[in-house]
Amino acid sequence: MNPLRKLHLKTFGCQMNVYDSQRIADVLAQSHGLEVTADPAEADVLLLNTCSIREKAQEKVFSELGAWWHDYKRHRPELVIGVGGCVASQEGERLRERAPYVDLVFGPQTIHRLPQLLNQAQGRRAAVDVSFPEIEKFDRLPLPRARGPAAFVSVMEGCSKYCSFCVVPYTRGEEFSRPLLDVLTEVAVHAEQGSREVTLLGQNVNAYLGATPRGGTADLAELIRQVAQIDAIARIRFTTSHPVEFTDRLSDTYAEVPKLAAHLHLPVQSGSDRILRAMKRGHTVAEYLAKIGRVRQARPGISLTTDIIVGFPGETEEDFAATLALVEAAGFDEAYSFVYSARPGTPAAALADDTPSEVKKERLGRLQTLVANRSQAFVERLVGSVQRVLVEGPAKRGQGRMQGRISHNRVVNFAADEQLAGQMVDVKINAVSVHTLRGELVASRHAA
Ligand code: 5AD
Ligand code: SF4
Repeated sequence: MNPLRKLHLKTFGCQMNVYDSQRIADVLAQSHGLEVTADPAEADVLLLNTCSIREKAQEKVFSELGAWWHDYKRHRPELVIGVGGCVASQEGERLRERAPYVDLVFGPQTIHRLPQLLNQAQGRRAAVDVSFPEIEKFDRLPLPRARGPAAFVSVMEGCSKYCSFCVVPYTRGEEFSRPLLDVLTEVAVHAEQGSREVTLLGQNVNAYLGATPRGGTADLAELIRQVAQIDAIARIRFTTSHPVEFTDRLSDTYAEVPKLAAHLHLPVQSGSDRILRAMKRGHTVAEYLAKIGRVRQARPGISLTTDIIVGFPGETEEDFAATLALVEAAGFDEAYSFVYSARPGTPAAALADDTPSEVKKERLGRLQTLVANRSQAFVERLVGSVQRVLVEGPAKRGQGRMQGRISHNRVVNFAADEQLAGQMVDVKINAVSVHTLRGELVASRHAA
């Protein structure tokens, strides 16, 4: 067998996938000494971590795989091509029917088995494992390596809400939470390696219920309080939440834990009760507004963002108007909006959908215009203010400039020395351009 030296990893999809890709790199560094390369041409192992949340994301998978076959594997048959993530989970063996040159298929819950799967694939036997062995994944993975000032830690996996449009419960399985101490240990490891901020990740993160050493359970509010006890961690975020499990205890955490960032991403999906019911979201518009009202009380000035689906089967102009009204009533500073995409195997895929796609696109356009105006107004209000920023690294554009995020989760660029990476600094916001804030350093400090 040829020795494997370099790994190229390409990631589509959500932050869970980004996190999983980091763990994939960690596990294969440990087992096979694989070094990550950004250049697929020099890789011995090419892995694609895929997303199936919408059809578009799924389509990208086969075009990327085709390109890898054409550009590399055709000339070097010993190359290993692997597919992980949600498309792999959904397709399993079937994936190899459409792309027979794929050697390795693994799901989001079988990352820890990659070393064995890779050995098998190298031995010219296709390796497929998309099972859900649940918590085993975390027990078998090496501790993470530092990847800069802002760390991500998965605290729970999967989703048991079964919203009628969503593929996640089928691709990632039912919810399961990691034990409290495991999560705290992983955060502490990041903190020791220099991270100052942590984002607690889960598909339905506020359903977190982790076992405690004394045989009890800790919810997300408790987890946040405990993470806040770790001195080196100056800022805490969590994503993504579902409104139903967004408890009063969690809202109150915004008042009680200053380290919790002044931002909440709480997907609402629609502003029409009728559509929310059809989506099986389990709450009404009024209940949603009451929840965010409590959060705003706990943390005045908090920035709220959301996700919205346009054109769910049966959505009328009236339903859509209610969504526009909710964007105003809730006061969202940003919203990520998508045209509904029927996903195979989900209950909504069986619903009659007679809204023409031009109408859906036109609605999406109207929503996005409203959201863009609100987002612009929000950033303009920040001009002149001084914001605490965690310096993450060099700005994407502009020499001598660094970038970081303010508590409200917006990126800001400012002139600063590279040495400041990893520190909390104060930045005065001077200007805004489309998506980025520009500012100047006011003072730097070591403490939060
Ligand atoms: N079609 C369109 N958008 C979807 N989302 C999830 N499933 C679908 C679908 N079938 C959106 C939701 C979710 C975000 C991550 O993706 O808004 O919050
Ligand atoms: Fe995409 Fe959902 Fe899978 Fe994340 S969990 S990669 S959003 S399908």
